[in-house]
Amino acid sequence: MGSQTETPYNADDDRSVAAFLAWHVSVGADLAINETPVNRLLPPELRRRDDGQPQTLNQTLNQGQNPSAEQRGRSTTVSSMRPTAASAESAEAAARAATTLAELEAAIKAFEGCALKTTAMNTVFSDGTPDSGLMFVGEAPGADEDRQGKPFVGVSGQLLDRMLGAIGRDRTQAYIGNVMPWRPPGNRKPSPQETTICLPFIKRHIALVKPKVLVFLGGTAAATLLDTTLGITRLRGRWLDYVDEENGLTIPVMPTYHPAYLLRQPALKGDAWRDFLEIQARLTSLSA
Ligand code: URA
Repeated sequence: MGSQTETPYNADDDRSVAAFLAWHVSVGADLAINETPVNRLLPPELRRRDDGQPQTLNQTLNQGQNPSAEQRGRSTTVSSMRPTAASAESAEAAARAATTLAELEAAIKAFEGCALKTTAMNTVFSDGTPDSGLMFVGEAPGADEDRQGKPFVGVSGQLLDRMLGAIGRDRTQAYIGNVMPWRPPGNRKPSPQETTICLPFIKRHIALVKPKVLVFLGGTAAATLLDTTLGITRLRGRWLDYVDEENGLTIPVMPTYHPAYLLRQPALKGDAWRDFLEIQARLTSLSA
């Protein structure tokens, strides 16, 4: 304490620039989107100058402090739309209109209501066999999934493959999706607003697949789709019902630990192993 000196950022010093960039990556800002900052709190039509260039910081500040009467009117209109609810409503309409998995994937790819899409390289929809009877739902794509456009292809996917192998299945004998189709920058957890917006898509996804058994991998999938605030430690290891009243569906679901969590907490693999044995037994009894 006390004697630590801080070197100020110096744009002419390569080491200072490298340290500044490393700090940004460590807090999750790992993608360059634009050369100039854009104030995304402003209504979209005010975010760019008339010449199409991004506004300068001073313009942004001046707009924020001295909005014209017309700008004030527009701001009121936009903020009264409650962007999360409006986006969730449009996701709901797009999801409801999709009657096949291909249509749903196209609808998600065309959807512009979730900001995560602007930083992602790919929309990650699914992998595996829809009529396998077994559907896994994870949280959101990571860097490998974002690059390849497929869920669970990175290290946690490799562990999921081994867990599937332990119950005599491979990826072609299961179907895999995520709550979020786009990678949150820096692999952060999706925000509640982001999951609210994308919830209609994963609900429709499940309704179109209609698996015999669902497995929710980790707390985000379990809490979002079971509409609970209970954590995964409380939820895992027992059969619950996933209920989708709109589609008249009740499907048995086993919430279990996310493979990424198991990689950090290997002592919990025994619990996950027991969950997978339960899943295997349930699938066997349903196909008997
Ligand atoms: N974690 C997830 O929840 N989903 C993926 O697709 C990859 C990692």
